[in-house]
Amino acid sequence: KRLILIGPPGSGKGTQSPIIKDEYCLCHLATGDMLRAAVAAKTPLGIKAKEAMDKGELVSDDLVVGIIDEAMKKPSCKKGFILDGFPRTVGQAQKLDDMLEKQGVKIDKVLDFAIDDAVLEERITGRWIHPASGRTYHTKFAPPKVPGLDDVSQTIVLEFLHKVTGEPLVQRKDDTAAVLKSRLDAFHKQTQPVIDYYSEKGIVAKLHAEKPQKEVTDEVKKVLS
Ligand code: AP5
Ligand code: ZN
Repeated sequence: KRLILIGPPGSGKGTQSPIIKDEYCLCHLATGDMLRAAVAAKTPLGIKAKEAMDKGELVSDDLVVGIIDEAMKKPSCKKGFILDGFPRTVGQAQKLDDMLEKQGVKIDKVLDFAIDDAVLEERITGRWIHPASGRTYHTKFAPPKVPGLDDVSQTIVLEFLHKVTGEPLVQRKDDTAAVLKSRLDAFHKQTQPVIDYYSEKGIVAKLHAEKPQKEVTDEVKKVLS
């Protein structure tokens, strides 16, 4: 399968991706993750991308199209892929179409993580990431599992782990309420038209992304079955 996941910041793209990836043996290509890795490694690409990312604005089409073009050449992506956070502008979508046409393949489904802006601040400011594995947690909605602990204790453990070791779980630099505003603005102005672009092709499936994580997974599986 060749899938595109589109949705605003915090809508659950990165949370559902590993589940879909395992279920269908696909490769997971997340431009945000690739860009953050480039920023951390201070590569020329990372140096160019950092300023826009810190402000919650989009990186230029040329930069992201370049990394996707490169990443799609991986042998593991030949059978199928999940594009998480790409394309984010109509220009990127058109470039992707050109790339796929050359390979003689097509996008099967675009999953639209539809959700109200109002619930996203809580999701974004409560998100914690385990850098080594890329796993995503949430202080309230997805605390790390310690057997036998209730929800409140889980949250305390999560905060404790971070404070004591300073390492295992980190927050993204752009996960603040202020930067979220620009990210949402970019989403509505530049990415919403991408959903219309694919709707015209009749391949968009709208999800209820405000539902609990497991219910969204069930919806995704239903759409893809
Ligand atoms: P990117 O990394 O793509 O960030 P984003 O699109 O803003 O999306 P997020 O990663 O914030 O949200 P998500 O949907 O993955 O949410 P998650 O599943 O983690 O991009 C970052 C930056 O890179 C951009 O701002 C831009 O500068 C640049 N960039 C990237 N791609 C680009 C492109 N193509 N073109 C140009 N620039 C680009 O969930 C969030 C939290 O909620 C988690 O804590 C999770 O545990 C929790 N959660 C998830 N699902 C649920 C649920 N159903 N119920 C309750 N809680 C939930
Ligand atoms: Zn993500």
